[in-house]
Amino acid sequence: MAQGDAELEARLAEQDEFEPSEEFVAQANVSDPDIYEEFEENWPDCWERAAEMLDWDEAYDEVLDDSNPPFYEWFTGGELNACYNCVDRHVENGDKNRVAIKWEGEHGETRTYTYQDLYREVNEFAAALRAQGVEEDDVVTLYMPMIPELPVAMLACARIGAPHNVVFAGFSADALATRMNAADSRFLVTCDGYYRRGDPLDHLDKANEGLDGVDHGVDATVVVDRLGDDGFGHDLKGNQHDWDDLLDEQSGERVAPVERDAEDMLFLMYTSGTTGQPKGVKHTTGGYLSYATWTSHAVLDIEREDTYWCSADIGWITGHSYIVYGPLALGSTTVMYEGTPDFPNRDRMWELVEKYAVDVFYTAPTAIRAFMKWGSKFPESRDLSSLRLLGTVGEPINPRAWKWYYEHIGNEECPVVDTWWQTETGGMMVTTLPGVKNMKPGSAGPPLPGIDAQIVDTDGDEVEPGRAGYLTVNKPWPGMLRTLYDNDERYVSEYWAEYSDTDSDDPDDWVYFPEDGAKVDDDGYVTVLGRVDDVLNVSGHRLGTMEIESAIVGVEGVAEAAVVGGDHEVKGEAVYAYVITEDGYEEGPDLRARIIEGVEDAIGPIARPEQVVFTPELPKTRSGKIMRRLLEDVANGAELGDTSTLRNPEVVEEIAAKVRTQAD
Ligand code: WTA
Repeated sequence: MAQGDAELEARLAEQDEFEPSEEFVAQANVSDPDIYEEFEENWPDCWERAAEMLDWDEAYDEVLDDSNPPFYEWFTGGELNACYNCVDRHVENGDKNRVAIKWEGEHGETRTYTYQDLYREVNEFAAALRAQGVEEDDVVTLYMPMIPELPVAMLACARIGAPHNVVFAGFSADALATRMNAADSRFLVTCDGYYRRGDPLDHLDKANEGLDGVDHGVDATVVVDRLGDDGFGHDLKGNQHDWDDLLDEQSGERVAPVERDAEDMLFLMYTSGTTGQPKGVKHTTGGYLSYATWTSHAVLDIEREDTYWCSADIGWITGHSYIVYGPLALGSTTVMYEGTPDFPNRDRMWELVEKYAVDVFYTAPTAIRAFMKWGSKFPESRDLSSLRLLGTVGEPINPRAWKWYYEHIGNEECPVVDTWWQTETGGMMVTTLPGVKNMKPGSAGPPLPGIDAQIVDTDGDEVEPGRAGYLTVNKPWPGMLRTLYDNDERYVSEYWAEYSDTDSDDPDDWVYFPEDGAKVDDDGYVTVLGRVDDVLNVSGHRLGTMEIESAIVGVEGVAEAAVVGGDHEVKGEAVYAYVITEDGYEEGPDLRARIIEGVEDAIGPIARPEQVVFTPELPKTRSGKIMRRLLEDVANGAELGDTSTLRNPEVVEEIAAKVRTQAD
């Protein structure tokens, strides 16, 4: 490091508050500090500002119907179509030749969709879905990697009012089957395969295996030919159709966008919770789309002329809200990249920022920590001067990584928004408005205008600034989930029961609990500390410990398993599995390999345990509950907490010794 750099690092390390530049503020979409007060005074009507960003077929009667909490309804009586708002209106407004999607494949091939191209292909695919028998309200599952056909399929579904259910391509066949079964989905769109670090991956094989596990049968599957000559030579089965053939059949077809009620489901997204069964989060057409669009405008500061890049996968909520719906509703250019950040080289991301002159870049702390580890020479070798704003999402970002991002990617000129939100919230909830607020590295920021969040103790009383507590949201917001698919009861018990008076009809008695720990400072800035339930955050991906445990106990030779998160330099958290073998089975590399395989088969490689520790017993309380906190201490090599309440205190030291020897 040059002398100047060292000085700069030292100065940044000291600084705990950063101001956006005057230049940024002058051009920001939102720069008036009064917005917080304005939203508070006019709540809930303030949310009209979000709804007004969309084109409605039928005006709504009421902004919020809160007569039956926590089953809130937004923009009731209104009708609109999400696809129309993301595609047609830009074509009609003279932006048909503007680029909607810039796609780059792992090998450097590119595809560009103008809004007109998108309009054509979305219409043809919507017609194709109809021809396959998809009707309004049928759930269509999309099991696809980062190829342009994924957003095309999402928008085509939205066009005909068929909710989509995107399943992350890295998930296993079992995970696909679970989600199709849970969502009663009889239609699937998938692809033959895709590239990962240079090699083609067989995706259709996995999809087919998943389809075998769909109990209610499947009416039709559409398969995109991504790999061409690199493909695996699968023959399509009777009800499987080639994407291109279907489009050819529908060439030139147009499908009128279906007018959807504001509260009609736009999509389902399954996410991990504390039980083994993933939760089907339901998002609606009016509230969700308004909220994704508004936050893209106000927080990401996206303008129509911008080239914007979010490096998440569309298989997660971040990709839904901030690769597809928000940026396209705003008529901007959204970049999609198929591959990984280190292939073929570790400057791949910065190569793309330079190549496409990206204005706004949104990524995850886990990626930033990896970039940091690789070193600043990679971003330094590229021209990143087009960047205006940076964002992060998915997990807490430590101040050192924040500052590295600010300095080496943003050249100390771009504000960084650290955005806290969840699959369930639909869009960002706690973060700075970049043109209004100063940034404090490590702290996401104050709740957004119109969002009423508090940090409380176990009784629900607000805690003093600086003290750790639980994050709660006290008022509904348009982007919120409406329920869990087919399970209103679980919706109430998972998100509301903790701090609400569940017998009350008064919305003031209802409090949303996101299951995150947090603290607040004297300026109202919230620092999110992480999950307080049994959900892990591995590389920004939510994984339920119960899901992983049930995969492990499904492996022959395993009697019992406990999974916890251990600290990890790049991933944030990593999966630690503590396993008791069944009598007659030997612990060792063979069983370890089968456990890892079991987890990959049930969930996917993202859930692969970092360490499998065999143990004769698990630390349990006298009532038989596994003490996960102690297992976390063991995973982290931390000093062991209080073991006095354990039935078997000696076992903890034994496990710790095993972890230490395995680490050597
Ligand atoms: C965590 C991703 C700290 C949090 C959009 C939340 C964060 C979970 C942040 C949701 C952040 C997300 N700071 N923690 N900026 N963003 N989280 O549903 O624990 O995949 O509850 O949604 O990620 O993960 P999900």
